[in-house]
Amino acid sequence: MPVREYNSISPSVAERCYIDESSVLVGEITIGADSSVWPLVAARGDVNYIKVGARTNIQDGSVLHVTRKSSGNPDGNPLIIGDDVTIGHKCMLHGCTLGNRILVGMGAIVMDGAVVEDDVFIGAGTLVPPNKRLESGYLYVGNPMMKKRPLKESEQAFLKISADNYVRLKDEYLAQI
Ligand SMILES: CC(C)(COP(=O)(O)OP(=O)(O)OC[C@H]1O[C@@H](n2cnc3c(N)ncnc32)[C@H](O)[C@@H]1OP(=O)(O)O)[C@@H](O)C(=O)NCCC(=O)NCCS
Repeated sequence: MPVREYNSISPSVAERCYIDESSVLVGEITIGADSSVWPLVAARGDVNYIKVGARTNIQDGSVLHVTRKSSGNPDGNPLIIGDDVTIGHKCMLHGCTLGNRILVGMGAIVMDGAVVEDDVFIGAGTLVPPNKRLESGYLYVGNPMMKKRPLKESEQAFLKISADNYVRLKDEYLAQI
């Protein structure tokens, strides 16, 4: 598996995860059961930790990093991602907190200290500035982001469907190893 130790801490990957050979996971990272990390993802848990929940997928080319502790920011900014989350292709997640059943659209950027509540849809290419809070049940789009509208029932349902689709896909990949 493409996991590397840093400061004597190695990534910890739960059962039934798919971690693509071309991804790089460094340092203090935990990944929950049935999650998947796709080609060319770079996740660096060096100056703080990264925690990814269960049944979450991190798609191709995404970058995950964190911010160190400092006198003005005693906890720094770890990166925390909940369960059943879809991180689309080429997203940048930096020192933020994501709840459960969230879709982060392709190419979105979520910056330090931002908090995304459960059941949020972030459109492709959205920029979430530092320390913003995204309210449960809404679609956000734009650069900088704007709260676009409440989620339709079908979109709300799709958040879990998307995560489930990726659990199935990673099972197919695991079966071919
Ligand atoms: C935002 C999104 C959910 C569509 O929402 P929607 O309300 O159905 O949007 P519509 O297609 O009806 O377009 C409504 C308006 O929003 C604009 N829009 C659509 N997607 C947008 C986006 N990501 N960012 C900014 N504006 C967007 C449209 O251009 C349109 O503008 P207009 O009214 O001026 O013509 C979708 O475009 C999106 O970004 N999905 C993310 C897909 C993804 O990345 N999946 C993960 C990879 S697997």
